[in-house]
Amino acid sequence: MKITKICCIGAGYVGGPSCAVIAHKCPDVTVTVVDLSQERIDQWNSDNLPIFEPGLEEVVKSCRGKNLFFSTEIDKTIIEAELIIISVNTPTKTYGLGKGRAADLKYIESAARKIAEVSTSSKVVVEKSTVPVKAAESVNNILSANHKHGVRYQVLSNPEFLAEGTAISDLLFPDRVLIGGPQTPEGREAIDALSWVYQHWIPMEKIITMNTWSSELSKLAANAFLAQRISSINAMSAICEATGADVSEVSHAIGTDTRIGARFLQASIGFGGSCFQKDVLNLVYLSECLNLPEVAAYWQQVIEMNEYQKRRFANRIISALFNTVANKKIAIFGFAFKKDTADTRETPSLYICKYLMEEAALVSIYDPKVDHKQIVSDLTDPAVSDKETVDKLVTITTDPYEAAKGAHAIVICTEWDEFKTYNYQRIYDSMLKPAFIFDGRMILDHQSLLELGYHVETVGRRLVRNSVNRLQAMPK
Ligand SMILES: NC(=O)c1ccc[n+]([C@@H]2O[C@H](COP(=O)([O-])OP(=O)(O)OC[C@H]3O[C@@H](n4cnc5c(N)ncnc54)[C@H](O)[C@@H]3O)[C@@H](O)[C@H]2O)c1
Repeated sequence: MKITKICCIGAGYVGGPSCAVIAHKCPDVTVTVVDLSQERIDQWNSDNLPIFEPGLEEVVKSCRGKNLFFSTEIDKTIIEAELIIISVNTPTKTYGLGKGRAADLKYIESAARKIAEVSTSSKVVVEKSTVPVKAAESVNNILSANHKHGVRYQVLSNPEFLAEGTAISDLLFPDRVLIGGPQTPEGREAIDALSWVYQHWIPMEKIITMNTWSSELSKLAANAFLAQRISSINAMSAICEATGADVSEVSHAIGTDTRIGARFLQASIGFGGSCFQKDVLNLVYLSECLNLPEVAAYWQQVIEMNEYQKRRFANRIISALFNTVANKKIAIFGFAFKKDTADTRETPSLYICKYLMEEAALVSIYDPKVDHKQIVSDLTDPAVSDKETVDKLVTITTDPYEAAKGAHAIVICTEWDEFKTYNYQRIYDSMLKPAFIFDGRMILDHQSLLELGYHVETVGRRLVRNSVNRLQAMPK
């Protein structure tokens, strides 16, 4: 089976970067990314790409118009391609059965129905979206129930492991590529065809093949394990704050154990992003449906801990500011859910803003990359607040010094590197006193800030200045 044309359905955070890298590495293959949204496609075809990722622009510009195309001509692109990648969104359901937990597969289903409707030749269909176990079977059922004479489909699972903020290097140098598929001669042929695409730049030993269900479950399991590590260290941070232990020291101590490893042990205000919560909830729902209530409860606790961490941090801001933030200006540094992305889905920053706005604080938001319209749209979501409240309480600035001027407090919500480089003396001089910094990402030099006169609060560590101006964790 020879692959000359690939169609990717869904030009989002996964479809765009992953297909740009495929096109970049496979000059012998034409890759067309299609989407229902004309606006998104226009952005991909412009100088202003719809998403920010370090290195993405260079990769797109190196092959766009040569063997990489962005289009809304969905039918034509499907008809021409031998291999179709589905990378549409699979958000948590907001209605009906499984509301708030199950993955909403309506976009996957409509993509599968479209493929069945227009295809006139056999295809390999690749499920790249994150889905519950057995979703590939549903896709297969839709395709085979609607197939035309002589048209055959092989459905593979090829979950994506890129992390936003490092998507391009993750795609260029992945830890592994997972391909799940039917263990039949036709299935193996389809697996080999997809594997051939990746072999253009990824060593064979990193391309792992397995059965479809293992592959689907592995993606959910990977995200659940990562989220669980964050919730575990955040649980430790609460113990640290209550005892005088220092969570950085604890994470260093346990991270140097090679059995545990150092990554994902950074305490913070909690995880965000479009995937961790959604995928853990998906796993919870799956476990419940399989009548495994203990397993469901185990993973549910990862989410509960994350909620607890965000709530705990927001409460600390209020209580440190003498139990009232009404009419106090509070600078929010960072609105993206993590650094090096402009994505705000499930961002802890929104939670903190909402919490402070409910207490009538005047929030002044600065983020180096997130579009102001996006911040307003997130804040005016009916679940957050109304437009009138946003107009009254929120300002969004393009200058961090302006955001902090006249403020009672700065809250670090995202770990952007530039936050470490500011002139905190200048900021201190422009703030009301006492001037507070709440470092929700543990990125600043707390000792220097204390020496400048700030009152500093962070996660998992209680800070005091002693007589020789040296930072100490405070004994109980
Ligand atoms: N964002 C991440 O970091 C990440 C990482 C790994 C896996 N994933 C998974 O990848 C999938 C996609 O995530 P994303 O962040 O790229 O989502 P996204 O919302 O950024 O993009 C999805 C795109 O699909 C389009 N779409 C939906 N239905 C369509 C249809 N029938 N035809 C054509 N286009 C359609 C939407 O318009 C949208 O542009 C999800 O399942 C997600 O869980 C995401």
